[in-house]
Amino acid sequence: MTIRIAQISDAHLGASRDPFGPNFDLAAQQIRDARPDLLLATGDLSLDGADSEADLASAWARHAAIGLEWRAVPGNHDVGDEALLGGRQPWNTARAARWRALAGPRLWVHDLPGWRLIGLDTQSLLTDAAQWEVLAEAIAGAAGRAIALVQHKPLTEQSLADAAVNYWPVLPAPRARLLALFGDARPALVLSGHLHMWRDRVADGIRQIWAPSTGFIVGDPWQHALGEKRVGWVMHHFHADGTHDCELRDVPGAICHDLGDMPEVYGPLAPVRQD
Ligand SMILES: [Fe+2]
Ligand SMILES: [Fe+2]
Repeated sequence: MTIRIAQISDAHLGASRDPFGPNFDLAAQQIRDARPDLLLATGDLSLDGADSEADLASAWARHAAIGLEWRAVPGNHDVGDEALLGGRQPWNTARAARWRALAGPRLWVHDLPGWRLIGLDTQSLLTDAAQWEVLAEAIAGAAGRAIALVQHKPLTEQSLADAAVNYWPVLPAPRARLLALFGDARPALVLSGHLHMWRDRVADGIRQIWAPSTGFIVGDPWQHALGEKRVGWVMHHFHADGTHDCELRDVPGAICHDLGDMPEVYGPLAPVRQD
């Protein structure tokens, strides 16, 4: 038995300003036509849901209107980001409550034949102590199923041993704490977004899949190219024997916007060092 799951990520939909909406609408129709069993949205559904209730509500409604059973995890543009990172929208309980009113708990479990999907909020692993107990129970209770973590930020950019503290991956301390919950085992799969790149890679014994955004990429002057910079979505096949395969789906007619050329959206981006 195989369960087909569409993963859409980083749509960045706005209620009043909506530069990436047309791309999303094309992808949404493509997903509807593909008739997957489940839809996963891996964060940044909204353009500015961290500050705008209207953005968050309309982004949620437009994902729901695809008309499939679906699950979502929040991104930094939906609920804010770890205060340690020093951004202008720190994760807090008010932002998390807005998400909860629409989406329910930020942590969830969804079982399939042979698999347990665990959704989590990577923006609050340092701040929100309450979720660790739920995570530990979800992992311990998998009862032999392979575990797929479903999250906004990737576990790491390259290696689980990376010590870098920056905007892109799960921070080193919560990464180590999360992996420790698995004991000697590892999650089989980690599905994430946030990087706005496509990458399908096995590293440190974990298959780590980065879904691209449907809306935009961040060009090389502003973000290192660790994967393929393109827009699209991912179709996954979860097999009951605990195996999995997936493929990238391009969206015909979608525009590959570069956020670096659109300072009107989030302001000018800082260049990265090219060395
Ligand atoms: Fe994003
Ligand atoms: Fe993000």
